[in-house]
Amino acid sequence: MKETAADRYPFLMACRRQPTKYTPIWLMRQAGRYMKEYRGLRKKYSFLEMCKNPELAAEVTLLPFQKFQVDAAIIFADILLPIEPMGIELEFAKGEGPVIHHPVREMKQIDGLRIIEPEKDLSFLMKAIQIVRKELEGKIPLIGFSGAPFTLASYIIEGGHSKDYVLTKGLMNQNRPAWDGLMEKISEVLIRYLNAQIGAGVQALQFFDSWVGCLSPTDYEGYVLPYSKKVIDGVDKSVPLIHFATSSSSLLELMKRAGGDVIGVDWRVNLGEAWTRLGYDVAIQGNLDPVILLGPPDLIEKEVKRILNEAGGRPGHIFNLGHGILPNTPVDHVAFLVETVHRYSSNHPLKERRE
Ligand code: CP3
Repeated sequence: MKETAADRYPFLMACRRQPTKYTPIWLMRQAGRYMKEYRGLRKKYSFLEMCKNPELAAEVTLLPFQKFQVDAAIIFADILLPIEPMGIELEFAKGEGPVIHHPVREMKQIDGLRIIEPEKDLSFLMKAIQIVRKELEGKIPLIGFSGAPFTLASYIIEGGHSKDYVLTKGLMNQNRPAWDGLMEKISEVLIRYLNAQIGAGVQALQFFDSWVGCLSPTDYEGYVLPYSKKVIDGVDKSVPLIHFATSSSSLLELMKRAGGDVIGVDWRVNLGEAWTRLGYDVAIQGNLDPVILLGPPDLIEKEVKRILNEAGGRPGHIFNLGHGILPNTPVDHVAFLVETVHRYSSNHPLKERRE
């Protein structure tokens, strides 16, 4: 099923809304804890140790490629990696996720944040990208990624994951100079970070604004959109960019205005409706609820068909989950999903009419 010629990757073609023989698929968090090989490595190394070891990061990146017919690989890293060289101490505590012991909430701290030099400060990631590109031998493209300014700011301000984002919204609404100062610095870091990944060899980018769905459209437009747009505009246009958020159904049109060749949507919105609202001059990625993968194969097949029917055989759909794969997902269900998406989309009744 895989195309080999470098300019005929279904994933990259779909990002550019060109017709493909089948709908390409990759999965957010496709290299991770649902795989026994990953859990085995995690017994020996911490998560950050794995990210910072280029050989290990490359090995984990390649696991889904070795097991499934996925149409893209995504480099094993984390959206929080660039904040360490900015001068923010980061820890991944067991069972808690990311912890930032000294959250940034005042102008004085913001002034002290460093603008990073990614080629030097995150050389391990650039090395991992080079290793993966070599190992993939051009068989599938490699995706790089970053967080978006709002989602990164939320970790930096809250000190970790948050339910209600009270501190983040507080800084945003009540201390505009500090908010703008922080968002400016993060944006500059992200432009450098994403361009460095392109320089190292990634062939597409995903821009994760995972938690921006907590905002009203007005706040998104006033406080966030200008910075997301600045980053997207500042990234080299030689590779396509996927702009992703969750709980974002009220923000879709604004996200499109911020930019991206592809808009990534979660399962809380019908893909067909989202695409109609966005317009067909942008590609779309999504949007299977990750919980469906825990269910039996006939449920997975039913949902795959529903989502592919919503996309209607139009060029420019990349199949993915609506958010990251859950740790207790059976590996054979992932294999079944990938195979079903390829099989059903190759013979999609609406496809022929559109080609
Ligand atoms: O998609 C991939 O396979 C590439 C790797 C990847 C990771 N994190 C590895 C990871 C990617 C693309 C990310 C992005 C990321 N990281 C996001 C945006 C995507 C999303 O889920 O919304 C966010 C918000 C983070 C921050 C983060 N990192 C959290 C909240 C957590 C803890 C929650 C969790 O799932 O454990 C992490 C840890 C993390 N990042 C793990 C992995 C494989 C688990 C580490 C472990 O315990 O082994």
